[in-house]
Amino acid sequence: MTEHDTSIRAGAGVPGRTDPDPDALKMYSFQVFTKLEGAVTAGMIHLGDKLGMFRALAEADQPLTTDELASRTGLAERWVREWAHNQAAARIIRSHTGDASGDVSGDAAVRFSLSPEAVAVLASPEHPAFGMGMFHRLPQTMRTLEEMPESFVTGLGHDYDSHGPEGAVGIERSFEPWSNAFLVPTVLPALDGVVDRLQAGAVVADVGCGAGSAVLKMAEAFPASRFHGYDISRYALGRAEQKRVEAGATNVHFHDPRQDPLPSNHTVDLVTTFDCIHDMTDPQGMMHAIRGAIAPDGVWLLVDIKARDTFAENVEKNPMASLMYGISVLSCMSSALSEPGGAGLGTLGLPAAKAEAMASEAGFTRFRTLDIDHSVNAFYEVRP
Ligand SMILES: C[S@@+](CC[C@H](N)C(=O)[O-])C[C@H]1O[C@@H](n2cnc3c(N)ncnc32)[C@H](O)[C@@H]1O
Repeated sequence: MTEHDTSIRAGAGVPGRTDPDPDALKMYSFQVFTKLEGAVTAGMIHLGDKLGMFRALAEADQPLTTDELASRTGLAERWVREWAHNQAAARIIRSHTGDASGDVSGDAAVRFSLSPEAVAVLASPEHPAFGMGMFHRLPQTMRTLEEMPESFVTGLGHDYDSHGPEGAVGIERSFEPWSNAFLVPTVLPALDGVVDRLQAGAVVADVGCGAGSAVLKMAEAFPASRFHGYDISRYALGRAEQKRVEAGATNVHFHDPRQDPLPSNHTVDLVTTFDCIHDMTDPQGMMHAIRGAIAPDGVWLLVDIKARDTFAENVEKNPMASLMYGISVLSCMSSALSEPGGAGLGTLGLPAAKAEAMASEAGFTRFRTLDIDHSVNAFYEVRP
């Protein structure tokens, strides 16, 4: 071993570096491995959703053994048991021991169930707190790790379609539950005069519409209005059109803005953007396009991630900051850098002050933060 190797191993001889404190080392290692535990458990949550195990637990009228859970889901018991042990050890599901029915004992006698909160988050797509969307697309999101080293070298990221069709479904399942519950009854009424105009018959553009959940919900509520969804993801647009046909919605059209851009003649009464401006390679250009589309008395509902002005504030005030910076690398910032010269705002890249400055640069003169309670998003009313 060379002298150099020895000094690195002992942590000595390197300016500012001291040997690790044994207790702090254990704690630090534990902290690092809790992240791996989270990642692996997240993968197991994905399987619980995909294989219907959460749904089966939610539908059961009493806690289930893994034998019962396996038979209700048509899965192999040994795999179900190991999965359930992970989920219960991580306190995602509940385990019940000591109430063995008599004919089974040991691990086979342990029963599993969901708390009411777990039923909402894991097994109730109609509940606003349903959270399986991000887990739905976990394999696609994590697969991008294979492409990331190249992106770190070239600076170029990947758009949403790099996550494949299931990526679009995951996004749909992430945003739809809250928007189904609150967009029409809570958010639209918070905008001055917008509901009256929608009832009378207005033109609406939802830019970055994804799989069209928001636009279809609004179209159902306001049949006298005409709705246009714009997205550059062919998977999202395909899914949106499929849902439009299923809903029989004749007042909705979906467009790829690269072939069919927003109108530039100030004819749109309401523009909505939900969680997408920070994903765009040219958010400032998009704001100019929205300004060109919007009527002189029109409204832009800008919904984007509730970010703070600095990294330090994000870390201090957002308990999910590390998750968000990570998702940004894997998804949002990657999308925002998917073309040369992309702005690369990323998940936490559009705090209110920046959004207002960019809207002003695009020619908007009024910017108001709406008082809407959301764990992740901020809501702004922007007017010419
Ligand atoms: C996080 S998703 C949000 C989707 C949708 N608004 C929702 O709430 O479900 C962001 C979307 O922005 C789309 N997007 C990115 N750049 C775009 C652009 N320049 N024009 C239109 N859509 C874009 C992506 O394809 C993706 O579907």
